[in-house]
Amino acid sequence: MFSYEKLLLQNKAWAAEKEAEDPTYFNKLEHIQTPEFLWIGCSDSRVPANEITGTNPGEIFVHRNVANLVVNTDVNLGSVIDYAVNHLKIRHIIVCGHYGCGGIKAAMNNHDYRTVLNKWLRNIKDVYRLHRDQLDAVTNPDERADLLVELNVREQVLNLAKTSTIQKAWKHENRPYLHGWVYRLKNGVIKPIFEMSPGTHIDPIYEYDDL
Ligand code: CO
Repeated sequence: MFSYEKLLLQNKAWAAEKEAEDPTYFNKLEHIQTPEFLWIGCSDSRVPANEITGTNPGEIFVHRNVANLVVNTDVNLGSVIDYAVNHLKIRHIIVCGHYGCGGIKAAMNNHDYRTVLNKWLRNIKDVYRLHRDQLDAVTNPDERADLLVELNVREQVLNLAKTSTIQKAWKHENRPYLHGWVYRLKNGVIKPIFEMSPGTHIDPIYEYDDL
C-alpha cells in the first residue's frame, strides 16, 4: 500500500466514526460555517490549529504559511482576511507562531535559499533589523531565535492592524480582536504574548481617516 492510500483509508474510518457518533454530524456541518476565529499559523506539520486548540471542524477559519507572516502584497492571505472579516464576521484573529520555527531560523542565517524562499524570508529579516539591538543582546542562539519568534508574531499582528480591512471593521463593528500567540513544541502549550483591541492606535502614518 502506498503511504497516501493510508490517508484515504483513515478518512473512511474517520467519517464512519463521526457518522456513528452523531448521524446528523455532516449534515449540520454542510449547512453552517460560522467560525468565530481566523487562525494565521505556520505551515509546520506539528502545529495543526484544530488539534492543539481542541476545536472541531467549523470552529476555526485557517490560513497557514511559512513562519505565519502577514505580508501586505499576499493576495492569498488578503482574500482570507477579507472573507473572514467581511463575510464570516469573525470576532478574533489569532497569529500563532511556534518556538523552534524553521522559517525563523532560516531567516537568521546568511544562506542563499534561492529566489522565492529568499523573498519570503526577507520579511523576517526585516523584523530582525527592526529589533536588532534587543536580539543581538541575547547571546544564546536558541534563545535569540525564540525571541525573534515572539517579535515576529508581534509584527505580524501589527501588520494586520495596518490594513484598511481591519481598521474599517474596528471602526464600524468594534471587531475583530487581534491576538499574538506562540506555541511550544516541547510541551504543547500556547503562550499569549500580544493583543490588540478594536480601535487600538498604531503609528499614525498607517491610520486611515476616511474609512
Ligand atoms: Co514554523
